[in-house]
Amino acid sequence: MVSMKAIETIAEMKQARRALAGPVGFVPTMGYLHEGHLELVKRAKKENTTAVVSIFVNPIQFGPKEDFQKYPRDIPRDLAMLESVNTDFVFLPQAAEIYPPGFDTWVEIGKVTERLEGAARPGHFRGVATVVAKLFNIVGPARAYFGQKDAQQCVVIKKMVKDLNMPLEVVIVPTVREADGLAMSSRNVYLTPEERRQAAVLYQALTLAQGLYVQGEREASRIRQQMTALIQKQPLARIEYISITDTEILEELAIVKAPALVSLVVRFGTTRLLDNVVLE
Ligand code: PAJ
Repeated sequence: MVSMKAIETIAEMKQARRALAGPVGFVPTMGYLHEGHLELVKRAKKENTTAVVSIFVNPIQFGPKEDFQKYPRDIPRDLAMLESVNTDFVFLPQAAEIYPPGFDTWVEIGKVTERLEGAARPGHFRGVATVVAKLFNIVGPARAYFGQKDAQQCVVIKKMVKDLNMPLEVVIVPTVREADGLAMSSRNVYLTPEERRQAAVLYQALTLAQGLYVQGEREASRIRQQMTALIQKQPLARIEYISITDTEILEELAIVKAPALVSLVVRFGTTRLLDNVVLE
C-alpha cells in the first residue's frame, strides 16, 4: 500500500495531479476533522481512483467579527484521521500562496447567496465560492464531495459548477450526527458541557418539523412556531433563524411543498450551530 502524501505548494499539487491516471475525488475542508468529513473522504475514495483532501482555513469566508483566529486547528490529528481512511493526497496550502499580494478576483453567485447564511454572513459565500473554484483548478477533480450539513453551501457550489461549466460532478453526502442527533461540526468544541447537552434540541426541532409535515401540516408558520417553542425550552439556546424554503432557489415558503429545506441557526453563547433536514 502506498501511504498518504502531504503537499504544501500549488505547484507540487498540480504536478502530482498531472501524474495521476483515472478520476480524482476531492474533499475540500477547513480541518479539525470529524466523522462527517471522513464520510465524504470514504465516498471520494470509493467512487474514484484517487482521493484528495484539502485542509485550508479560508480567511476570506470569515467576517471581521467571526472566529477565523480561533477556528480549531490540529493538523497532526487530521493527518492521522485521513490516513486511517486511505486518503491519497492531503493538500495544505498557505494563505500567502492562495492569496498573494494583488489577488483580486472573486466568484460571486447571485440570488441563492442572498438569503439564510448569506444574509447572516455577508461575503461568506463569495469567500467560499472563490476558494473552492481555485481549489478545483488546482486539484482537477472529476467529483467533489460536500456535506448536506451545509445545505446552502451545496446549492451555491452546484450553481457555480453549472453556471461556469466547470468540468466536474458535485456529490452531496448526508449529514453525520452524534448519538443524540447533533450534527457533527468542528465548531462543536466551542460548547460548554451544558451547552452541548442542550444543543441536541436542534435536531429535535428538525425531527418535530418532519413529524408535523408527515402528519399533514403544510402551514410553514405553524411548523416554525412549534419548533420555536421546543427550542426555547432550552435556557441557553438563542434562535437566530428558522427557515422553510424550496431546495433550489431557497425562497421562503408559506405553504410547504416537498422537497422543502427546513434550516435553522441556534446560538449558544457566541457559538452558532447550523443544521437542516429536507422534507421529502
Ligand atoms: P468544513 O466546515 O471543514 O466542511 C468541509 C465539508 O465537510 C463540507 O462539505 C461540509 O458540509 C462537510 N461536513 C461538515 N460537517 C458534516 C457532517 N456532520 N456530516 C456531513 N458532512 C459534513 O465547509 C467548509 O469546510 C468550507 O466552507 C469549504 C467548503 C472547505 C471552503 O472553505
